[in-house]
Amino acid sequence: MTDERAAPPLQPLCRSAELAERGRAVLFDLVHRGEPMRGFALRIDGRVVAYLNRCAHRPVEMDWQPGDFLDALDQRWIVCSMHGAHYDAATGRCAAGPCAGGALTPVPVIELDGRVCWQPGADLQPPPGGPR
Ligand code: FES
Repeated sequence: MTDERAAPPLQPLCRSAELAERGRAVLFDLVHRGEPMRGFALRIDGRVVAYLNRCAHRPVEMDWQPGDFLDALDQRWIVCSMHGAHYDAATGRCAAGPCAGGALTPVPVIELDGRVCWQPGADLQPPPGGPR
């Protein structure tokens, strides 16, 4: 027996050119397990990664200014602005801080033909009214 449910359509996130290597993140809205929240996408070592903007320590957004997540030294770490948790930007794993051993929630992304999209799933849905 096959699963005949259609996969949710890819959601547009941004143009590839908007994501500079280890630069400012692009923020986007989504719904996680029924709760509206924001995600963010970065380009790390040429690859686009995206996570929920929610710290593993406390359920708060982490950016210092909108889209400003990375450490000032070498832009390797996503640093939570609340208590300084350090997440590996490439994997989302917390390496230091009050949630060491924890991890950010990844959002699946696809980059194709100069565009970046994210893939909805059971826990991740587009916001009502479409992308913003
Ligand atoms: S809320 Fe992020 S380190 Fe505490």
